[in-house]
Amino acid sequence: MDLKIAGKVALVLGASKGLGAASAAALADEGALVHAVSRSGAVSDARLTGLAADLSTAAGVEAVLELVARLGRVDILVGNTGGPPRSTAQGVDSGQWRAAFEGLAVSLFRIADAVLPGMIERGWGRIITIGSSGIVQPIPHLAQSNAVRGAVAGWSKTLAGEVGRHGVTVNMVLPGRIDTDRVRGGDEAAAARDGLAVAEVQARSRAQIPVGRYGRAEEFGAMVAYLAGEQAGYMTGTMIRVDGGYVRGL
Ligand SMILES: NC(=O)c1ccc[n+]([C@@H]2O[C@H](COP(=O)([O-])OP(=O)(O)OC[C@H]3O[C@@H](n4cnc5c(N)ncnc54)[C@H](OP(=O)(O)O)[C@@H]3O)[C@@H](O)[C@H]2O)c1
Repeated sequence: MDLKIAGKVALVLGASKGLGAASAAALADEGALVHAVSRSGAVSDARLTGLAADLSTAAGVEAVLELVARLGRVDILVGNTGGPPRSTAQGVDSGQWRAAFEGLAVSLFRIADAVLPGMIERGWGRIITIGSSGIVQPIPHLAQSNAVRGAVAGWSKTLAGEVGRHGVTVNMVLPGRIDTDRVRGGDEAAAARDGLAVAEVQARSRAQIPVGRYGRAEEFGAMVAYLAGEQAGYMTGTMIRVDGGYVRGL
């Protein structure tokens, strides 16, 4: 299927590896001109242009806003960054809560605000945010992620209602357990916490996933690319799970 986004300008945040990199690669496969932001500025694919910017800092967000101004147009924005630290819901101090909200939510809101006027003027745009299955089924020991991503979901849905009639769609894609460094780190932390081997933690985890395995990053990137495509123009305000059936609710 030709997604009809060749030549569109895409800005993918948190894109040196993992889900962001896979999304960037899937967009590049469709001929989009992709700018990939991360702290390192590294790109996993020669077709991408990298920008080093730390989205958890004001200076990093400003660097992305300067890139948006330099580019003159962004047609597709993929919101993503590293997850906040693992923690329980109790005992997180106010500085940590603020840092999680600034890094994961406010940075995205500001960058989206910079790209939206141009999308609205041109009558076409895609805002796709990488979330987590924890939005619909909160994950123990990831309280900051569960809480802040819930706020991002509320923003995404509200924004979809504001810009739909201008040809701009706003959606979220929720990973369950996709095999990336972040998930490997989580398994290692769980193994240390529960006194198990990492392989045991992974087997325990796979047993909870109806498909029986972790997902591949390219399976996730394919959904991001689809939502960016012309054919997904009537899909907005949605959250799509790419989780191998992990979430038990409807
Ligand atoms: N993988 C899953 O199954 C899964 C499930 C639920 C939720 N998630 C969430 O989805 C997001 C992506 O996950 P992932 O598995 O792809 O993680 P990952 O493999 O750790 O990749 C994270 C990406 O974000 C970049 N990044 C991290 N902190 C950044 C910052 N402050 N500023 C700019 N870029 C930053 C990293 O590059 P640099 O290190 O170069 O900055 C990297 O490119 C995370 O928020 C994660 O919590 C993932």
